[in-house]
Amino acid sequence: MELKQTGGQDFIDILEHIFETEGSEEYLGEAVSMADHMIQTAMTAEKNGASDALIAASLLHDIGHFAHVSAENTDWHRKHDKAVAEFLDGHFGPEVIEPAHLHVQAKRYLCAIEPDYFGKLSPPSVHTLEKQGGPMHADEVKDFEGNPHHAEACQLRRWEEESKALGIETRRFSDYRPLLERLRIDRP
Ligand SMILES: [Fe+2]
Repeated sequence: MELKQTGGQDFIDILEHIFETEGSEEYLGEAVSMADHMIQTAMTAEKNGASDALIAASLLHDIGHFAHVSAENTDWHRKHDKAVAEFLDGHFGPEVIEPAHLHVQAKRYLCAIEPDYFGKLSPPSVHTLEKQGGPMHADEVKDFEGNPHHAEACQLRRWEEESKALGIETRRFSDYRPLLERLRIDRP
């Protein structure tokens, strides 16, 4: 799928299509599908009183995984965080995009500053951590702490670690449409 070619289709419809099709398939060896994982992360955010923008960021944080267009692209573990920013650009503001964009960096950050954080990662997430550069070095930690979206990115990251459970009742993407409609900046 070429994500940038939206062909005049409504962007929220495109998101819903991803959740209902490719998104409901397997998620890199995790027990849950990517769509269920993203919806569970949004539900965890909501339960913790997150802002609408952070709930939306939680819902969409892994949508960049669907940017891998071809099988030759073996590098996409590292790129899905960049892909989410590119994909959502022009449709949502930075308060939605940036926590999602930074969620991989937040994992590298939390593993660097909290000795027990590594133990909270699922096995596939441990595997991708290595490909993503491992825990941050001291200079990267400092830079990351200077990012204005740093706190929200870490919050999203903590919620996503606990949002990979099987067999819990999740909502549908369509339940979040009103929230996304309120936040979008590309209103037709
Ligand atoms: Fe995730």
